[in-house]
Amino acid sequence: MSDKISLSLRVNGASHALSVAPERTLLEVLREELRHTGTKRGCDQGSCGACMVLVDGEPVFSCLSLAVTLRDREITTIEAVEAGNELHPIQRALVQHGAVQCGFCIPGIVITAKALLDRNPHPTVDEIRHALGSNTCRCSGYARIVEAIASLTGERP
Ligand code: FES
Repeated sequence: MSDKISLSLRVNGASHALSVAPERTLLEVLREELRHTGTKRGCDQGSCGACMVLVDGEPVFSCLSLAVTLRDREITTIEAVEAGNELHPIQRALVQHGAVQCGFCIPGIVITAKALLDRNPHPTVDEIRHALGSNTCRCSGYARIVEAIASLTGERP
């Protein structure tokens, strides 16, 4: 077993002093050390997007990111996207458009959509589809997911 490394991770605005083996991924640390289980483990190899988090505002596969490389970076998980008990507008739109089926992919999709809308509040439908290219919905509910996100921008798929 590898020697652990001490580091401080900033997650959702709070600093966490941790001792982490160098091979541990951010996904493992979030779920198993910090109990932020809203971030999901799907494929564990960078294909499905279920594990998506923001690092300095950019969407990142937490299953492919080593925790020890993320010192002093601002990590945002789905737990910080809601404002108190209020759903984020992206979450509300997904619910209103019937875009949530089994729900497993939804945290990653919300994170990806948030990164897109923070960067570009008025993406075209093609830009929405392109941004969601890293997220797999195993229920294949893409049409309603795109429709929900487009409803926030005034676009129609
Ligand atoms: Fe990370 Fe699938 S669990 S991309």
